[in-house]
Amino acid sequence: MDGNGRWARQRGHPASFGHRAGVRAIKRVLQGCEDLGVKVLSVYAFSTENWTRPRAEVRALMRLFHETMQREIDEMHRRGVRIVVSGRRDELSSKMRERIDEAMERTARNTGGVLNVCLNYGGRAEIVDAVRKLIEEGASAGEVDEAAITARLYVPDLPEPDLIIRTAGESRVSNFLLWQSAYSEMLVSETLWPDFDVPDLKAAIADFGARVRKFGGRPEAATG
Ligand code: IPE
Ligand code: MG
Repeated sequence: MDGNGRWARQRGHPASFGHRAGVRAIKRVLQGCEDLGVKVLSVYAFSTENWTRPRAEVRALMRLFHETMQREIDEMHRRGVRIVVSGRRDELSSKMRERIDEAMERTARNTGGVLNVCLNYGGRAEIVDAVRKLIEEGASAGEVDEAAITARLYVPDLPEPDLIIRTAGESRVSNFLLWQSAYSEMLVSETLWPDFDVPDLKAAIADFGARVRKFGGRPEAATG
């Protein structure tokens, strides 16, 4: 969800103003996903690298996550959304961890759709953490395969993303879902995240729908 800072700066405000507008964009996009039949939405809220931002911004972001989770949980639950949070927990405050656990436990049996909030998330960290679990379990070299790593990701039952949308015109992966995105379609949108709305989502899905996915194969050969 890139572009919050630029959006705020264009309006003469600090980045935190843009982050607040970014939360409103998540709500719109989540509703759009529900209406369009998208079952899983992952949002990259805070990366393992974002701690290097100015302290005031990090603090404002953490406060915003906490506040938003507290405020939105009832409605999410009522709408049948299952909330999951991906990322390293131990570096988050105990208050935040409590909120996360509460949200995940309360919504665990919901089947209306999944909102995966990537918070203190890094794709490399996730792979490292999966390998650590394997070692802790005493896995032998022969037992380490792709399925074994997939089964030890933060939320193992989530499907791999079909489409990854990167906003604000940036064309980088930035450590997002590295393992899961091996065959994801990428789309770069010029829209700054706080401006991202249902028409942008619809345009992205239409673009995705027009692509031919081969997963490394040559499916056209099979049909002649
Ligand atoms: C949102 O956008 C990123 C986070 C939620 C941490 P940025 O804050 O990176 O926006 P720009 O790149 O400064 O415009
Ligand atoms: Mg940015």
